[in-house]
Amino acid sequence: MEFEVIAQCHTTNARVCRMKLAHGITMLPTFMPVATQAAIKGLTPQQVESLGITLILNNAYHLNLRPGTKVLDGVGGAHAFQGWHRNILTDSGGFQFVSLDKFASITEEGALFSCPFTGHPTMLTPEESISIQHSIGADIIMQLDDVVSSLTVGPRVDEAMERSIRWLDRCIEQHERSGRQDRQNLFAIIQGGLDPTLRDKCLDAMVERGDHVAGYAIGGLSGGEEKDLFWRIIKQCADKLPIDRPRYSMGVGFAEDLLVCVALGIDMADCVFPTRTARFGVALTFKGPLNLRLKKHAKSMDRIDDNCPCPTCSTGTPRAMLHHIVTIETAGAHALTQHNLVFQAQVMGGARDAIVEGRFPEYLRTFFKNYFGDQG
Ligand code: GUN
Ligand code: ZN
Repeated sequence: MEFEVIAQCHTTNARVCRMKLAHGITMLPTFMPVATQAAIKGLTPQQVESLGITLILNNAYHLNLRPGTKVLDGVGGAHAFQGWHRNILTDSGGFQFVSLDKFASITEEGALFSCPFTGHPTMLTPEESISIQHSIGADIIMQLDDVVSSLTVGPRVDEAMERSIRWLDRCIEQHERSGRQDRQNLFAIIQGGLDPTLRDKCLDAMVERGDHVAGYAIGGLSGGEEKDLFWRIIKQCADKLPIDRPRYSMGVGFAEDLLVCVALGIDMADCVFPTRTARFGVALTFKGPLNLRLKKHAKSMDRIDDNCPCPTCSTGTPRAMLHHIVTIETAGAHALTQHNLVFQAQVMGGARDAIVEGRFPEYLRTFFKNYFGDQG
């Protein structure tokens, strides 16, 4: 990849970067919408592209179950499979140890899953995860990591961190054997829970492998821990990571968290939150989230947000209509998903512009004042 820092904030660690991958340029900081099953729920790839989104996330564990690598190899990868021409990042499947933990057991070799459809046991090793991500053909691929919930304490956190370092080495080896490093970029994932000493150990080991990794993610957070602990770990990692590599905080999606992460030096983030909350009838706005299922919107001719350029707002769709359809027609989910992804893109695009123009602190002040102020 080509990666270049093009602007920096003087009072925070926020920065703007240009990242060029095989499927085009993505400006950072950016929010990546989640298309776990090779589709953003509720939208076509053409719609996603027309919103200006240039990088989405797929999941290797799920795409390996369905459609499987035979189909992916047959069509020439996930870009062709889903009709998406821009960049893709694939998560390795490590997080599924937490989200599907009833189905998985971890050994040094890999994770043993029972297939949720057939109960058939399958082993996901670091080599296998990388090989699946090669079949997918994602522009950015993630190491297989040993993930524990951020609420886990005790020796298991240490074990998972140490194993993630060993698994990174196996991922690097598998990736470099493939000769795909020119088109697919491997990211390491820093683990170590909420313990600064463990995080430091993981950081040192992974930064040492800098010649073999294109970027760094911070994993194992956003699992219900206290906000101040979350921020401390993000800051600790961002401060120590090399300036010439992208930094990705995994599973972060609330606008207020995105902006704090950006201020601490984070470049990328992903979360199902904006698309999932849309399907539950919630529109995200600069004045805070708006629950369109509430009765008070039933007769409102207001748009979600008069200044929003999304297809839903710019066609003038009133809140009354959205209230009406949101729970009874899939069109409601489409309308709110488009709006929410444009909102996330505006939060991050606004941050990029503010950093470039030297007014990021003012941007933060205005955002937080409006977002947590009176809804009116
Ligand atoms: N998604 C959210 N957190 C994580 C993590 O720690 N590891 C991986 N692989 N994916 C994640
Ligand atoms: Zn809108």
